[in-house]
Amino acid sequence: MKVLVTGGAGYIGSHTALELLHAGHEVVVIDNLCNSSLESLKRVELLTNKTITFYQVDIRDGDEISNVLAQHPDINATIHFAALKAVGESTQIPLKYYQNNVYGTLTLLEALQKAKITNFVFSSSATVYGEEAPVPYVETLKTGIPSSAYGKSKLMIEQILSDLVKSDPSFKVACLRYFNPIGAHESGMIGEDPNGIPNNLMPFVAQVAVGKRDKLSIFGNDYPTNDGTCERDYLHVVDLAHGHVKALEWLEKQSNGICEAFNLGTGNPLSVLEIVNEFSKVTNVNIPYEYAPQREGDLPAFWANADKAKVELNWTADKSLEDMMKDTWHWQSSNPQGYGK
Ligand SMILES: NC(=O)c1ccc[n+]([C@@H]2O[C@H](COP(=O)([O-])OP(=O)(O)OC[C@H]3O[C@@H](n4cnc5c(N)ncnc54)[C@H](O)[C@@H]3O)[C@@H](O)[C@H]2O)c1
Repeated sequence: MKVLVTGGAGYIGSHTALELLHAGHEVVVIDNLCNSSLESLKRVELLTNKTITFYQVDIRDGDEISNVLAQHPDINATIHFAALKAVGESTQIPLKYYQNNVYGTLTLLEALQKAKITNFVFSSSATVYGEEAPVPYVETLKTGIPSSAYGKSKLMIEQILSDLVKSDPSFKVACLRYFNPIGAHESGMIGEDPNGIPNNLMPFVAQVAVGKRDKLSIFGNDYPTNDGTCERDYLHVVDLAHGHVKALEWLEKQSNGICEAFNLGTGNPLSVLEIVNEFSKVTNVNIPYEYAPQREGDLPAFWANADKAKVELNWTADKSLEDMMKDTWHWQSSNPQGYGK
């Protein structure tokens, strides 16, 4: 297959590009590089000894997307990662998030529809279940109201995709609802390289470990959880990348007019303290931390029921917590400044 990967230079996109190449597929990436570096894809090429066709294109530019598609009439499917993803920032500048994520996706879909490229995998998020959903989250639950503009943009796109499929049954769509991807490729050559202060736990821990930051702030130790810190379903980014390859294979086998959501997680909640302790144990690096007030909008605990992905996609998250810690540290210690962007 030849696969268009939007946002392919980013964290999850670069790991997925690598797994696609390993699985024998061809990869065409479009990315505006607003939160990534082309270095990630150069390293994927080194790791696989294969080439990636790259275009620096913004998904809000329909003409540019159509130009790329015209040069590759043999593209069979799209994996759509490109988005802004900082939850906190999205509450401060919601219009930018809706413009980039929602308008960008609409523009992309129009170009794909014109080019008749109708197999589509979307990077969704567990946040679409909203704040009231019972745990573990299962796909049969109704979606809720996400607290942030970021989360709402993901939910809106799921709804847009569902309407699109009803109106144009040539489309086949898988919405992959990720839980908390962490880790890096075992080579230590590609990994997560956030701009500025990391929003997520794992890159923060890794940057403290490498001496880039003094200490970790743990937001809240008075949640109704075993140790009082938030619990999440952390999965290895390479497992998540495999999930995309499985979703593409699944789409190939479906009849037209399908739009299905899948949770991608391990099904096991882990607390912030468990992660910090495991990281120290695996790497022998102590992580100084302090408790800070709870962050608005953070839920105490959520995790996936990942049975549907197991049964229908033949996918499970197999890598261990130790792998997640070891690989994070391998990446961060070999690349203290990330890609140096
Ligand atoms: N990382 C997570 O914890 C997580 C969890 C759930 C869902 N997701 C979703 O997964 C996807 C990938 O996330 P990631 O962690 O790899 O983020 P990332 O920021 O590393 O990757 C996103 C990529 O999209 C590109 N991009 C953004 N806006 C663009 C635009 N208008 N045109 C072209 N390219 C654009 C960025 O430059 C970047 O390379 C996103 O859609 C994100 O919302 C991520």
